[in-house]
Amino acid sequence: MKNNINLVKGTHDIYGAEMEKFEFIIESFYSVCKKFNFQSIQTPIIEQQELFSRAVGEQTDIVSKEMYSFLDKGEINICLRPEATSGLARFAASNYQSGLMKLVTHGPMFRRERPQKGRYRQFHQINIETIGEKSPYIDFELILLAGLLFNELGVSKNKYKLLLNSLGSKEDQLSYSKLLKKYLSDFKNQLSETSISRLDKNPLRILDSKDPEDNEILKNAPKISEHLSTESKNYFEQVKKLLNSNEIEFIEEPKLVRGLDYYSHTAFEFQTIEDKRQNAILAGGRYDKLISMISSRDIPGIGWAAGLERLMDLITIEDEKSKSKNKILFAVQDETYLINNRILKQIYNFKYNHEVRVNKNIKKLFSYADKNNFSFIILIGEEEINSNKIILKDLKNKSQQTFEISKFELKNEIR
Ligand code: HAM
Repeated sequence: MKNNINLVKGTHDIYGAEMEKFEFIIESFYSVCKKFNFQSIQTPIIEQQELFSRAVGEQTDIVSKEMYSFLDKGEINICLRPEATSGLARFAASNYQSGLMKLVTHGPMFRRERPQKGRYRQFHQINIETIGEKSPYIDFELILLAGLLFNELGVSKNKYKLLLNSLGSKEDQLSYSKLLKKYLSDFKNQLSETSISRLDKNPLRILDSKDPEDNEILKNAPKISEHLSTESKNYFEQVKKLLNSNEIEFIEEPKLVRGLDYYSHTAFEFQTIEDKRQNAILAGGRYDKLISMISSRDIPGIGWAAGLERLMDLITIEDEKSKSKNKILFAVQDETYLINNRILKQIYNFKYNHEVRVNKNIKKLFSYADKNNFSFIILIGEEEINSNKIILKDLKNKSQQTFEISKFELKNEIR
């Protein structure tokens, strides 16, 4: 006996009701963003590993621990993308001309994390970026769009919260890192192992620690918001004013640093209110130096990505939305009845969702219709063929009519 081949750890199939949610989210995402003049783009799933070591950062968990990478024919280091922003920045570095490049995309991402509920090794993101200019309005617009999407998906405001922070400019980050490192060095013996390893290379990441003892120590640590340059502070104030005046509620979270190194200034995260381990649904921020880290051009940008699987967990799709209204089963007892069949042609050209099934056993056809939520059956069996008739059965109203095959017009009977 052969063994079954199972799914690769941390991956999952998406099917049935889950797939309906998946498609509903993607459709809503594109429809909301296209109203704001975003254009869709697809970039490759494989990229040069160097793209992510330079953009996301060599010291981040994503690059140092979680990359799926391989040497391609001994020539070049390739990896499966862990996120979409770096690929879009690579695209913008070669294709941006002037004004705003407003991009939307979606697709699978890969991170070799420890799998758990809501955390996969292959997961999907919807992703949006505005590249080309730095302005508080753009930051506001992207956050606004996230809220509009939640609304479109039927996720009510009491299910999520928006955390907001400013990471300041790269210079602000450098001087703040020094301050933080100095403060944390006094507690070196009490810090967790991971935090100690970050102290020299990337002290900002310690702010993200989940370790309770680290968190106690961090309570009195200097806050980045208190060490921003005047310019950075003013910029952040403008973003907050725009949010406030448009009644977008947010919580300022000075410890929000994000797990990717390319951010500067505005950073944000939409989290579920429920106390889940994987509570970040949508996250992003401004990355003014990212393109200059991977190319000779210096172009600012901002964006966010949401985990599709995490959004799917938050939404419910009503039956009406997920099932097409008039679904027709064309039930035929024998293949030969389909040759030169004018009703078959009508079905192909008809707007409703349909399926053609051939089976000698009419009972089986009826039970198939029942189990799969069909609303109509058009039946052509031996009896009908002999008498040149068809039967149209309305399964919802439990009624049926018989028609002459030569006169039956689908569009007149099902509306
Ligand atoms: P991120 O915070 O790494 O940011 O991921 C964004 C979202 O992807 C998370 O909030 C979460 O919903 C989802 N996600 C991340 N990892 C997993 C996983 N292992 N399993 C399931 N869902 C996951 C970025 O990726 C940035 N590129 C966002 C961005 C776009 N910043 C600017 N533009």
